[in-house]
Amino acid sequence: MTDDLGKSGQKGTIPLDDIETTEDVQIASDPLQRVIGQDEAVRLARIAASQRRHLLLVGPPGTGKSMIAQALALHLARPTEEIRVVHNPENPERPMIELKTDAEVEKELESRGFAEGEYIDPKEAPVNVAERLGYRCSSCGAYSPPKESFCPNCSRAKLAQIRSTTNNPFGDILGGLMEVTMGQMAGRERVTTTRKRFGKEEVVVFERAGDVISVLDQAALEKRREFEKESPRKVIVPLRRNPFVLATGASDTELLGDVRHDPYGGHPQLGTQPYDRVIAGAIHSAHQGVLFVDELPHLGHIQRFILTAMQEKRFPISGRNPQSAGASVRVDNVPCDFIFVGACNIQDLPQILSPLRSRINGGGYEVLVETVMPDTPGNRAKLIQFVAQEIVMDGKIPHATKEAVLLIVEEAKKRAKVIDNKDKSLTLRLRELGGLIRAAGDLATGESARNIEARHIRDAMKTARPVEEQIKERYGSYMGGLSKDISTSEKESSPYHYWNYHVHDDKRGYE
Ligand SMILES: Nc1ncnc2c1ncn2[C@@H]1O[C@H](COP(=O)(O)OP(=O)(O)O)[C@@H](O)[C@H]1O
Ligand SMILES: [Mg+2]
Repeated sequence: MTDDLGKSGQKGTIPLDDIETTEDVQIASDPLQRVIGQDEAVRLARIAASQRRHLLLVGPPGTGKSMIAQALALHLARPTEEIRVVHNPENPERPMIELKTDAEVEKELESRGFAEGEYIDPKEAPVNVAERLGYRCSSCGAYSPPKESFCPNCSRAKLAQIRSTTNNPFGDILGGLMEVTMGQMAGRERVTTTRKRFGKEEVVVFERAGDVISVLDQAALEKRREFEKESPRKVIVPLRRNPFVLATGASDTELLGDVRHDPYGGHPQLGTQPYDRVIAGAIHSAHQGVLFVDELPHLGHIQRFILTAMQEKRFPISGRNPQSAGASVRVDNVPCDFIFVGACNIQDLPQILSPLRSRINGGGYEVLVETVMPDTPGNRAKLIQFVAQEIVMDGKIPHATKEAVLLIVEEAKKRAKVIDNKDKSLTLRLRELGGLIRAAGDLATGESARNIEARHIRDAMKTARPVEEQIKERYGSYMGGLSKDISTSEKESSPYHYWNYHVHDDKRGYE
């Protein structure tokens, strides 16, 4: 894949000579172009997006697997289906599924708006309607919201009927108080009248709607009646949703959905109807998007369900807790047509459910991500692009000077040698390199420096080291540090000591 970052003549790259600071580096708008050094994985991710194939990314942490999965999701067309659960009056414990396209959802919103009628200012309503709805004072004619039963203008009860009931010798003292204790609104909720239109008499309903009045004519009233006849429903996977769903470490219920418990067992008056307690799982939320599972083998037996969901492209939602009132509820055929992207380390491969792997193989691609890239001018330029991206994405640190970037490149070279034993290469274990950039950025920010400079990088390299390395330096070796730590006098008083050192082989830990 080529990434055209513009500016420089060289394709996809900006040589270090061309820039003063990383501010001069243009960030690619294509999310997959922001991934550096993983050309094969990116190529396959593009195919996976356009052909709807699955993807397995294998390799060490911090090399861009999650980033690729997310970028892939951003390459998909927007979801076009909304998933809803509809109350089933014949059998409430078997709610039905309803799918709506975006055009249908839009049309529905429109006609719902129509069924709400037209809004008018109370002053535009007929005087007697405004009075009966409680907007207009029948004594002085001033307008005020119906929640005030006393007219703010003349202080009298707005409506004649209320006035007579509150005509009390202590009204002046009690006035405000009575308003509160009675909690009474002026007027009525709705007033039905008739009007003549095109020579025909038709019913018009005026309704209170906060500070305005809603007017429903015959057509709007009919629409409303239609909606009231419809079974109630609930949107469980909305049209506007994130096409990237992370299911790492998910439980059964998070992955597959659930039906919440109802202490009243769905009693028609007291309880919540079963359809209303249905919750979508990650597999359903990922419908038309990407379901991403990092550390795939950690899902254990749940992998089987993912396999079924991938095969069927639909998966029922039922109450997963056998003790719960939700257990008897089931919604069949809930769609879950997702692109599966899994990620794991090389050593975890054998723990992936083998039918799941062959499924990915059969309908997708497996790719081993790179840990290093050759140290060429083009790849150096990509690393510069990476530095600029990390800074811009962080948003809290200043740009880096050319000299600072050069040091980061040197560090990338060093890490390729130390970690992966590769000469003339640059590391692609970029999460940690990103950490170095942020640490240097924090130092620069701390002293209000304009840019991240070489010295900030050097200082950050001293402080932003993994704690294992710090232990090595202080105690000679990591294991040495471990034994020293245990033999310190503080060990027995530490609240965690017992758990850390005894619990696993000693039952007393649970006492
Ligand atoms: N190949 C890459 N290109 C650009 N940035 C990367 C790359 N790999 C890692 N990063 C940076 O490191 C961060 C962590 O990477 P991530 O995608 O979570 O790695 P993984 O999933 O392989 O553990 C990313 O958000 C990104 O900022
Ligand atoms: Mg990750």
